[in-house]
Amino acid sequence: MKNASELAKDVKLTPAEKGDPVAAQSDEQRRISEYWSRWAGEYEAYQAQRREAEGESSVWEGIWSAGLPQPPSQVLDLGTGSGAVAFLLAGMGHRVTGIDLAEGMLAEARRRSGYSANPMFGFGDAAGPQFDDAAFDALTARYVLWTLRKPDQALAEWLRILKPGGVLVAVDSLWFPEGLIAHEHEEDHSGARGQDFRRAYQGQEQDLPLAEAGSIGAFADRIRAAGFAEVTAEELPELKEADQEYGVAPGHRVQMQYRIRAVKPIS
Ligand SMILES: C[S@@+](CC[C@H](N)C(=O)[O-])C[C@H]1O[C@@H](n2cnc3c(N)ncnc32)[C@H](O)[C@@H]1O
Repeated sequence: MKNASELAKDVKLTPAEKGDPVAAQSDEQRRISEYWSRWAGEYEAYQAQRREAEGESSVWEGIWSAGLPQPPSQVLDLGTGSGAVAFLLAGMGHRVTGIDLAEGMLAEARRRSGYSANPMFGFGDAAGPQFDDAAFDALTARYVLWTLRKPDQALAEWLRILKPGGVLVAVDSLWFPEGLIAHEHEEDHSGARGQDFRRAYQGQEQDLPLAEAGSIGAFADRIRAAGFAEVTAEELPELKEADQEYGVAPGHRVQMQYRIRAVKPIS
């Protein structure tokens, strides 16, 4: 197990230097991670464009600060991708570590951070985070729960690494209620990314129950069943408005997103 400062010692290692940990992933997880690596450039280009939009940062600061402890707190951003949330929270005064299994995404995050100490990024599995018990005040996960294989196992681990009284704050949506592979709403679903998405996720529906959730209550129920308390799920109309004004990411549509917040019980 590593604590955040021990992780800092090896975040500068490349996969090759670390003995190719990518190869340690299951074939199913690797298909997902490689998909996100391949599209990391496009993903980050959209994030960068949105960061320039007027009011965008303050919308997100409001969303996170309503759920998180006062800064500074020790935060782990799970499935950090290109680090959008990690950078924002570090800018708000939190001490942030971001982990992901997609090296392409981590490369985008590190390109932006220049290997800074805050936020720092590491290769790591959100479903099996290599941290000590009670290492963090808060966990964040934006657009991650839906793509987590075996989320119940992940949530049990998230509870373990949170301090008693610590919080989990996730932002997510009902992305594929009509079916992970069958979804037809994306304009470019038949394009290269849509085809690649299908190759990555095909046959994984059973292990990704939240991808096809039909209500946000399904997220809250799983989080509660894992042992979290005070679980709430709130609509974020301010994000919908911003998406309407500035446009959604490639392959997406304007839809309601939710903040899900939960607390690790003190005893
Ligand atoms: C839609 S992206 C969201 C990225 C980022 N959280 C954001 O808000 O921009 C989903 C991310 O989850 C990551 N991911 C999926 N399963 C993971 C796992 N088991 N461990 C770590 N990262 C994972 C993917 O590699 C991808 O970067």
